[in-house]
Amino acid sequence: MKRDAPAIAQRVARQLTRDAAREPLVSDEFSRHDFETALATTHHALWVDDTSGRIRGHLYGATFDDLLRGRQTWSGPDGYSFDFDHVLDALCERAYPQWRSEGSSAHLVWALAGHGTRVWTDRGYRIVSVRGGIALDEAYDVHWPEGFSLRRAGPSDLAAVVRFDEQIDLAQGVDVASLRPAQREATRADLRELLDDPDCHCYFVELDSQPVAQCVTFSLAPLRGNFDATVYVSALAVRPDQQRRSIATRLLRTIFNDATASGAHYAEVRWHIDNEPATSLWSAIGFRPTYVQLRRSLGDLAER
Ligand SMILES: CC(C)(COP(=O)(O)OP(=O)(O)OC[C@H]1O[C@@H](n2cnc3c(N)ncnc32)[C@H](O)[C@@H]1OP(=O)(O)O)[C@@H](O)C(=O)NCCC(=O)NCCS
Repeated sequence: MKRDAPAIAQRVARQLTRDAAREPLVSDEFSRHDFETALATTHHALWVDDTSGRIRGHLYGATFDDLLRGRQTWSGPDGYSFDFDHVLDALCERAYPQWRSEGSSAHLVWALAGHGTRVWTDRGYRIVSVRGGIALDEAYDVHWPEGFSLRRAGPSDLAAVVRFDEQIDLAQGVDVASLRPAQREATRADLRELLDDPDCHCYFVELDSQPVAQCVTFSLAPLRGNFDATVYVSALAVRPDQQRRSIATRLLRTIFNDATASGAHYAEVRWHIDNEPATSLWSAIGFRPTYVQLRRSLGDLAER
């Protein structure tokens, strides 16, 4: 693996440069040294195709437990490359049984929105979520109607944050009633930690002192394809009886103004492809898809 790392790093750098040329919201910033070190020290398997004496492709996936879906394998935008489609097929053919043997039930892969998805959908993958970006180059005038106020939520707001979280789960097709008590408790613990974290900002919009909307932001850690100074926007929810009154729009614009004042130049968000209100909202706000995540079950391999 160590021996192949420089050649793979070169391929990934080239691919990222191509992605950035196609989509200006993708950054081609890439530390070859860090990437090579990560490859050389990872305990996850990496496959390379060097049938013709030089590397024609690579595939890398990390297998982890997911709270809701169990064990799955993830490949980032730097987790694969291939000169020809049949090279990708050969790599997948090797990787799938190994991932299955690690207990993984599905493979999830990030691909450049638009240009990079076809090769995966042709192989039975389905788009599940979207990573979107926006450049923060505007200052917004935000006016809240009478009775509305904004504050930062803290640990004592856990019950309301849990309610918003359940609303988001439902919008993404997960009914909280179907979750095991251990899963619910793990989610509560995560939310408690989030509210305690000084680096996370949980915005609450209140109407007559009752929370009617929330959104969580934090500075995004370096991630392949992202620019530095990116604020990550997540956990947005508006109480059902207050929706379609531009509350989310006002809150996001407030967040963009705050983020710009703190030195951010970009914002990023992820949304579920089946969540239609979210898909419409993020586009209406000005976010553009950069990468999409595609999923393929590995379950059918068991029968082969
Ligand atoms: C998505 C959500 C946050 C939108 O909040 P909101 O305050 O109603 O959004 P806004 O009123 O600011 O809507 C702005 C624009 O987004 C789009 N939009 C918002 N909700 C929509 C819906 N249900 N259907 C279609 N388009 C919608 C529209 O273009 C809308 O502009 P318009 O009302 O002038 O047509 C809200 O529906 C919600 O809380 N959903 C459940 C939780 C969730 O899915 N969160 C997102 C996780 S990524």
